[in-house]
Amino acid sequence: MSLYDFKLYVQNNILLPVVRRHPKLADLYYFLFSSDFSREHQKVLEGKFMHLQALKENKPNSFHLRRQVHRIEKGLIMKNRRSVFALDYIGDTVHNYKKLSEFGDYTGQPDTELLKWASSVLQTYFNSTDTTNSVIAEAYKKFQSTKHKVEVQLKPVDYVPYKRAQTIKSNITYEDFLALTRQRRSVRYFLDKEVPYDLIQKACLAAAYSPSACNRQPFEFRIFTDQDMKNKVGAIPMGIRPFFENIPVLIVLVGKLSAYASERDRHVIYLDGGLASMSFILALETLGLSSLTINWPDIEYLENKMDQLLKVKPDERPMMLIGLGYADPEGGIPYSQKKTTDQLLQLNIQ
Ligand SMILES: Cc1cc2nc3c(=O)[nH]c(=O)nc-3n(C[C@H](O)[C@H](O)[C@H](O)COP(=O)(O)O)c2cc1C
Repeated sequence: MSLYDFKLYVQNNILLPVVRRHPKLADLYYFLFSSDFSREHQKVLEGKFMHLQALKENKPNSFHLRRQVHRIEKGLIMKNRRSVFALDYIGDTVHNYKKLSEFGDYTGQPDTELLKWASSVLQTYFNSTDTTNSVIAEAYKKFQSTKHKVEVQLKPVDYVPYKRAQTIKSNITYEDFLALTRQRRSVRYFLDKEVPYDLIQKACLAAAYSPSACNRQPFEFRIFTDQDMKNKVGAIPMGIRPFFENIPVLIVLVGKLSAYASERDRHVIYLDGGLASMSFILALETLGLSSLTINWPDIEYLENKMDQLLKVKPDERPMMLIGLGYADPEGGIPYSQKKTTDQLLQLNIQ
């Protein structure tokens, strides 16, 4: 038995049955015997540090603004809306809004659409609340004194809550949607045919409408169409080694942990990223394109390679890859039997 096999044997057969029993034993195990969570811990701390540091140093923080504006919108749609609400964070929200408007975000560029949304919602907030309240009055003064780096439309205030009845409804039937989900299959063989970038943009537009915790959208789709770079990226994950060269476009979905001030949100990059990817992938199908989701296991040497190649920032984590292109009609597709609804739905079971 090699030393590695011996270590695995001890971990899995002697330590595991014991350390699984208590969180403190689990902590001890990961402190003494396994570094498998180390990178995750470090990245979560880096993200938290970046988030809090920006707030502490009075720097603009667009993730924070997205969350705060979202909270105000939720306050605005309350059925029995109060004339005074959000007192504990309106000052902070306007302060951050002013910073982002006057100095841009960490890239130095203003995020015009975010600022339009924020200014519309804040204006609506001040129109709907009691501005004689001293906290609201002070925030309003600051809001009005904001000098915008770019034009944000203050009138009419159109990026604001609206009634469900005003939603533009699609004509897609359940049968159409079900057929689309059945049409989507993991495709591993593609034609040597260029994918127009505007189709990727269209799929991304659909993905952007996916739900995201507090509307922060803490991810980026990094697109690789340049064949040399695409092949360098494709050679890293293990799950596509036999066929990565024939995938015309590769995407690395990167999560940004600086979106959060707390460890409790550490899973949200994966949830939000997964939801957006599903919309992206289904949209590709409607555009005649096929795709393959590709696993990104948490393996240190692979992650180091990817981090270097993509110049990943300290708070960023690759979460998965997506390959896409025009499917080779002769390429094989695994049947992949799906679980039944009876297996997946557990109704009112305690
Ligand atoms: C998170 C995730 C990781 C995956 N990783 C790989 C991979 O590395 N290589 C691969 O060939 N397929 C990969 N797949 C595709 C799955 O094998 C496939 O979705 C599954 O077998 C069901 O088939 P279907 O997508 O055609 O319904 C992955 C899928 C997901 C959701």
